[in-house]
Amino acid sequence: MIGIIGALDEEVALICEQLAECTTLSKARYAFHKGKLGQRDLTVVKCGVGKVNAAICTQILIDMFKCERIIFGGVAGGLLRGLAQGDVVVSSHVVQFDIDLTAFGRRRGELADKERLIPADPDMIQAATEAFDRVTETSDAPPTMMVGTIVSGDSFISDPNTIKWLQREFGAACTEMEGGSVGYTCAINEIPFVVTRVISDSAGEQAQKEFDAFLSQSSEMLCNLITETIIRL
Ligand code: ADE
Repeated sequence: MIGIIGALDEEVALICEQLAECTTLSKARYAFHKGKLGQRDLTVVKCGVGKVNAAICTQILIDMFKCERIIFGGVAGGLLRGLAQGDVVVSSHVVQFDIDLTAFGRRRGELADKERLIPADPDMIQAATEAFDRVTETSDAPPTMMVGTIVSGDSFISDPNTIKWLQREFGAACTEMEGGSVGYTCAINEIPFVVTRVISDSAGEQAQKEFDAFLSQSSEMLCNLITETIIRL
């Protein structure tokens, strides 16, 4: 069983539409859609925004739905000049940037019991990057894709100083609000994961406008990236 998580309707709706033999089960306040995509068994959930929602859904996918791999798909704010709207970042690592135990001599994002940057699964990274190649192969002007660190915190970033800090502190490619907690939950359960993010905004002063304008456009790309990733697992 593969678990698929997105924070928003736009990020999971099209994937749910593709599910055959779909049944829906509610747990806590989340609706889990279980079905088949080709030969693969999937459970898809919209977790809502933020790290706590994402962690709860990840644990439910692992415990109740026996998911053996987790894919998170969604949009993110780009932190590098070379990343524009529509470009794609696949997680090499994830980190919760708002963990702060510096008072105890730890680096930002570092907890006592885990590596600071949590590595995504190499086979799933490969599947996600090959999925990108497949999805964009007929495009005249294909977007850019990179594998890099994805940072997560419970804030929507729209500030140039924070962009600079996230880039310098974590070597981050993009920022979002869920991936770090999905990665953390997967790591402590020893479940492989990957996060695929389509850039919706530049995390700068115009971020909210850019995000609103782009969100509905991202659905098809995300659905294609995730379904092509699943085929390769
Ligand atoms: N998701 C998409 N854009 C984002 C941003 N700028 N900050 C946090 N999460 C995001």
